[in-house]
Amino acid sequence: MAKGFYISKSLGILGILLGVAALCTIVALSVVYAQEKNKNAESSVATPASTTTSPVTSTAATTLDQSKPWNRYRLPKTLAPDSYQVTLRPFFTPNDQGLYIFHGSSTVRFTCKEATDVIIIHSKKLNYTLKQEHRVALRGVGGSQPPAIDRTELVEPTEYLVVHLTGPLVKDSQYEMDTEFQGELADDLAGFYRSEYLEGDVKKVVATTQMQAADARKAFPCFDEPAMKAEFNITLIYPSKLTALSNMSPKSDSLQDNPDWTVTEFHTTPKMSTYLLAFIVSEFKHVGGQTPNNVSIRIWARPSAIDAGHGSYALDKTGPILDFFASHYNTAYPLDKSDQIALPDFNAGAMENWGLVTYRESALLFDPLSSSSSNKERVVTVIAHELAHQWFGNLVTVEWWNDLWLNEGFASYVEYLGADFAEPTWNVKDLMVLNDVYRVMAVDALVSSHPLSTPAEEVNTPAQISELFDSISYSKGAAVLRMLSSFLTEDLFKKGLASYLHTFAYQNTVYLDLWEHLQKAVDSQSTVKLPTSVRNIMDRWILQMGFPVITVDTKTGTISQQHFLLDPDSNVTRPSEFNYLWIVPISSIRNGREQNDYWLEGVEQAQNALFSTTADDWVLLNLNVTGYFQVNYDLDNWRKIQNQLQVNPSVIPVINRAQIINDAFNLASAYKVPVTLALSNTLFLEQETEYMPWEAALSSLNYFKLMFDRSEVYGPMKNYLKKQVTPLFLHFQNITNDWQTIPQNLMDQYSEINAVSTACSNGVPECLEMASRFFKHWMENPNNNMIHPNLRSAIYCNAISQGGEAEWNFAWEQFRHATLVNEADKLRAALACSNQVWILNRYLSYTLNPDLIRKQDATSTISSIASNVIGQTLVWDFVQGNWKKLFEDYGGGSFSFSNLIQAVTRRFSTEYELQQLEQFKKNNEGTGFGSGTRALEQALEKTKANIKWVKENKAAVLQWFTENSK
Ligand SMILES: *[C@@H]1O[C@H](CO)[C@@H](O)[C@H](O)[C@H]1NC(C)=O
Ligand SMILES: *[C@@H]1O[C@H](CO)[C@@H](O)[C@H](O)[C@H]1NC(C)=O
Ligand SMILES: *[C@@H]1O[C@H](CO)[C@@H](O)[C@H](O)[C@H]1NC(C)=O
Ligand SMILES: *[C@@H]1O[C@H](CO)[C@@H](O)[C@H](O)[C@H]1NC(C)=O
Repeated sequence: MAKGFYISKSLGILGILLGVAALCTIVALSVVYAQEKNKNAESSVATPASTTTSPVTSTAATTLDQSKPWNRYRLPKTLAPDSYQVTLRPFFTPNDQGLYIFHGSSTVRFTCKEATDVIIIHSKKLNYTLKQEHRVALRGVGGSQPPAIDRTELVEPTEYLVVHLTGPLVKDSQYEMDTEFQGELADDLAGFYRSEYLEGDVKKVVATTQMQAADARKAFPCFDEPAMKAEFNITLIYPSKLTALSNMSPKSDSLQDNPDWTVTEFHTTPKMSTYLLAFIVSEFKHVGGQTPNNVSIRIWARPSAIDAGHGSYALDKTGPILDFFASHYNTAYPLDKSDQIALPDFNAGAMENWGLVTYRESALLFDPLSSSSSNKERVVTVIAHELAHQWFGNLVTVEWWNDLWLNEGFASYVEYLGADFAEPTWNVKDLMVLNDVYRVMAVDALVSSHPLSTPAEEVNTPAQISELFDSISYSKGAAVLRMLSSFLTEDLFKKGLASYLHTFAYQNTVYLDLWEHLQKAVDSQSTVKLPTSVRNIMDRWILQMGFPVITVDTKTGTISQQHFLLDPDSNVTRPSEFNYLWIVPISSIRNGREQNDYWLEGVEQAQNALFSTTADDWVLLNLNVTGYFQVNYDLDNWRKIQNQLQVNPSVIPVINRAQIINDAFNLASAYKVPVTLALSNTLFLEQETEYMPWEAALSSLNYFKLMFDRSEVYGPMKNYLKKQVTPLFLHFQNITNDWQTIPQNLMDQYSEINAVSTACSNGVPECLEMASRFFKHWMENPNNNMIHPNLRSAIYCNAISQGGEAEWNFAWEQFRHATLVNEADKLRAALACSNQVWILNRYLSYTLNPDLIRKQDATSTISSIASNVIGQTLVWDFVQGNWKKLFEDYGGGSFSFSNLIQAVTRRFSTEYELQQLEQFKKNNEGTGFGSGTRALEQALEKTKANIKWVKENKAAVLQWFTENSK
């Protein structure tokens, strides 16, 4: 996949020309840069050198003869699979060439839907070994005679095995095709791959799978599209001392033809998509139980993790979550078992394989002694996300990847409902507003955003598919479904959902099918009234990108809507049939009391008494931010809200206190309100102890930090934050008995964490003293870490940043020996907090050595380093210098790759940085940007916006912080 990026010849040549022309500039730039950063000669040479390498020469997609079906990325509709018999035998020691491999054999039975003289089936990096003239055997089922095979070929760009026949297959006849093959059990985290870990000093190997989106074809030849559902008979052959798992339970006692090898046949799966298959052979252990409905539940992990009890929390929560979804969907869990397994090497967070869900260790394992509350929250929400898919996604599957947003957006929404059921005291549902709604609005407010729904014909290649796994699909998908569920009511939403699942079980759908079933639910009752159909309302949120800002004028009661763009001068080039107008459900409160709901029905402007005020009355729109939009008011109403926050904030619901801060900062970024108004909305925080408003302020102000932490604004800004956070810090110091205990409820625990990290990073002396005291104690007693897990990230980071080589090396040793990945992850992030250039540079070099930093963690480690103001420029040099290697190792298949580009460019706010970024784009057009292509465009846009924003706001911000930090 790493090389799966195709550019046309002419573009490639242009790239060379530009590269040569650019060379002088780049050399000049990198010399300046080299001096500035005191960087070694080697990497300053690397930048220009990469511009002279020749472009990728593999066959360009656009030059393939598209009239031949095997040159097209989508399968023809001539054949449909019915059933597969797949036998796989992974080897756990390398062969003569030093390769870990697997052997396989497969029979696929398929029906011919339209006569054709060619069989086109996906196959990637497999060597065919059947000792037969054409490498495959073909026969008819039920008496039909197949035509003879003319020849077979492997078409690499489109990843097909193509069998050319001398005559046609007959419509409605069934055939079977046999193959035998050999593949590499590589450590590439894709298809059937190998994960390694140490048990004591012994290296252990796990054979495992990650098929989504397009890598089942790397394990065996298959019709590898989600709509090509079939039944699968999986058989695994493996060393007898290991354990084999797959989607289904094993059939009966396993066979042993030879005492060293065991053969396990699994039950036939229901009709399912290839991307949900899984098979794993390991030495893992499990803990298990059963739901009241006799579904067997098991949690698998490395033996030492299971022995230490790290699987127990997941086990406890899985039963309730499965029961919750069975009832939420009004549909029993479709299988008889649910295995969940934590893998040492895993690319995504988790994968919803039917009946055998795979996780990163940090998303499934929990240690009450050293994991933090947010680790716990992550475990329960990720489990809920994956189990939600067992129905929505697995039982009913979208027809093609262009509707991925429905699958992932839905799961990202209901994960909060499932987690809330499992942990009812947490208020975890509120967190969606910060973690999804506001987070994605930042991306969706750019002209380079895109609509949720993409036309099917625009998504073809694996790279195009993997690009869809972005925050728009996940978080905006979740946000608009939450809005839909909120105006329909959860009960009606559930009713439509159950009807959809019952109708389409074991089949495939497009998103309109869900709207249709929700509409039926609406039509069956008369309490909930909509201004128009579900489809008409939702089309505007699904088919056009972005979201509206609703502006209220309380003098006249007018409300109006406008497409919200962070850069008001940017020109939207993507036309919308709805002219960027939405049908918007609007809830509101007046002086704290709820008012009737209102619909802004796709018009630019309307007027209603609900929104006009007199005297001291104020209104506030979008209760609990269930609507996916932002709100602006006339200055008068803003002032009254600020006044209310000073006098008695509790009249305003906590989520809306966060909204006031978030919306105002976003509006200020878009020049719709003065930046000082947004800043003034944070004045009340001096008396605020709740997590949500603080978190909203800290994440908004993080933008100020990024823009200004290299400038004279930063001093006064730190003083202001220090002043605001000190009461919060003292509050928690007090109620935790000087950090000996932790607050009761989760939101308070999160607030405490913010208090400590904000106080320390802005120089509250008691905090700095506390951090180094705790860390020093730990260094003196490495086996007795007294720091509460919740506070570890903050304390490690501040101690390492205040400390030197000794602190860093100690933390690195602890990282190397951490047996719990939660602990390792905290240390890995904190190691990036050093303020020593050479230490950070050394750490950066570790990220390209998988023995030091696992591949799955490389991009996130680099991102952590980039978030440190000192690390930022080092990482930028590094990314420029190592782009080709990074791209080949992580670019093609890794979903987090676009995060890397985002992380490294976040501070960019000068013309010089913009030039460099543009140059970087030109220089690497030959190598390409794969799944980071869109992120690069977004970074260019964001940089331009930053330049302008800093220019226009710096003076006012400096003055405001100076005046308000006294
Ligand atoms: C898979 O197993 C089922 C049940 O034994 C059987 O009916 C089916 O034919 C098998 N499929 C193949 C391709 O052998
Ligand atoms: C497949 O064949 C190629 C070319 O002969 C070889 O380089 C590669 O190692 C083979 N792979 C496996 C897994 O045997
Ligand atoms: C948007 O269009 C206007 C008018 O055509 C033009 O002056 C302006 O430069 C464009 N802005 C951007 C960011 O391209
Ligand atoms: C808003 O959210 C809070 C906290 O989750 C909840 O208690 C309240 O009922 C919600 N209000 C409305 C109108 O939904």
